[in-house]
Amino acid sequence: MTCTCDRLGWVKSGRKGSQPPSCIAEKQLDVNAMGTVGTTGAMNEGKIFLVGLGPGAAEHMSGRARRAIAAANVVIGYGKYVDLVKDLIDGKEVIRKGMTQEVDRCVAAGERARAGKTVALISSGDIGVYGMAGLTFEVLLQSGWNPGDGIGVELIPGITALSACASLVGAPLGHDFCTISLSDLLTPWPVIARRLEAAGRGDFVIALYNPRSGRRQGQLLEARRILLRDRRPDTPVAIVHSAYRERQAVQLSTLNEMTECDIGMLSTVLIGNGSTYFDAGLMITPRGYGRKYAGLTGEVKEGERSGRSLSMGFNGWKACVRRFLSDNPDQSLRQVARYFDVPLGEILEAVGEAGGEDSAGGYAAVTIRPGGEAEILEAARDWGRLRAVVRSEAGAVSELLLHASDFSRRGDWLNLTNEHFHLHIDWSRVHRGWLLRRSADLCSLYFTDARQDVVFSLSLVRNEGRFEQGVEQCFEQAWERLGVGKRQ
Ligand SMILES: C[S@@+](CC[C@H](N)C(=O)[O-])C[C@H]1O[C@@H](n2cnc3c(N)ncnc32)[C@H](O)[C@@H]1O
Repeated sequence: MTCTCDRLGWVKSGRKGSQPPSCIAEKQLDVNAMGTVGTTGAMNEGKIFLVGLGPGAAEHMSGRARRAIAAANVVIGYGKYVDLVKDLIDGKEVIRKGMTQEVDRCVAAGERARAGKTVALISSGDIGVYGMAGLTFEVLLQSGWNPGDGIGVELIPGITALSACASLVGAPLGHDFCTISLSDLLTPWPVIARRLEAAGRGDFVIALYNPRSGRRQGQLLEARRILLRDRRPDTPVAIVHSAYRERQAVQLSTLNEMTECDIGMLSTVLIGNGSTYFDAGLMITPRGYGRKYAGLTGEVKEGERSGRSLSMGFNGWKACVRRFLSDNPDQSLRQVARYFDVPLGEILEAVGEAGGEDSAGGYAAVTIRPGGEAEILEAARDWGRLRAVVRSEAGAVSELLLHASDFSRRGDWLNLTNEHFHLHIDWSRVHRGWLLRRSADLCSLYFTDARQDVVFSLSLVRNEGRFEQGVEQCFEQAWERLGVGKRQ
């Protein structure tokens, strides 16, 4: 078996890779309703129960988890978790392993099961959530085990810290959420930072697992800094410590101030999204009923229908963009994109779909037919003086006056050069081109990337409010010849 390391040190076994081998993919479909993988224990072969104990208190442990532990000959776990089930382990072999001995626990489980024992490998919360389930499969598979032969493995889910902690503060998980562990013991920090950034940008409610420990103090400060880029400082935050255990404690705070709170290894930090609020000591993330109904229990709002997508839903939101453009003629397309929090390319698409009564405030757009990007640059040679706008990812805006004769292509680069400037545009990022027009005052060409962000744009230049003679007609001809879209 070969092992490869990528740039960030993520080790993949050559045997597994990113696509599961077909035998494993098929076997995974074999997992029965009871969560059993492989045989339930052939003759002389034992079995491993992977048991999630829930957050701590016995009443939150499932009956199935208790039965599995009761049926086991061997119980393996971190010392503290073994203590949580001490009433069930009399007469059994008990293997207590420390915090950093996770692999040892899995190896011991495999050895005992191969010797014909029934093993309960226990973990707090849900054993599949930052728990021992994945590691156990990795160790077993690496030792040649396959689901379907040899020892059986049965997974028993538990209540994870996320839902346990949420239940103590109200309903913070009422909308899309994600979990991010701040532990960098096994995950490179740039990966964690990228996930924080994506979750912040995506307006997820975020549960931070492993937020802080004696040795890991800076990560939470950095997480706060990253999240503050997209989220308000007064965003509600709940810190739950030792949920359903002896030292349970709840602190309510804000994103800006959460790092002042008492946070440790046994805390989970719940960070609200843009709509989460505190009321009467409860943290609530609305599901969205207020968008559709007046006063929640009231009538359906104008423009909405019960049981149907929102007016701003998948099929309707672009019509809302067009209405907004009609109602706000002074807003630039870029301002409109910011208002709807979408890339400008999506606004161009919305304009391109306008037609008839459903107009876009005087704007019209067509996309350039596939493969026509080079041709449109050629056509731009007849458009006279042009204004090119290029924005850097960090926000700098370059605005240049030029002629299409200043363009040249070299490999992946489109070069805009004359005696005053040299500007190089990565043409390989260009995914789509758009022609945009508004009444008699705007004729533009936009190139967007795969994410619908604008790579660069060109506009015909007006002099004293008028385009140079003939250039508007040349633009129209290019529109007819290379544009694809509704006739507007
Ligand atoms: C390695 S993860 C284990 C998660 C566990 N498998 C689960 O599903 O809850 C450990 C982290 O879970 C969170 N956690 C586990 N139990 C908790 C509890 N009772 N109260 C609050 N947070 C808890 C803490 O963030 C802790 O640092």
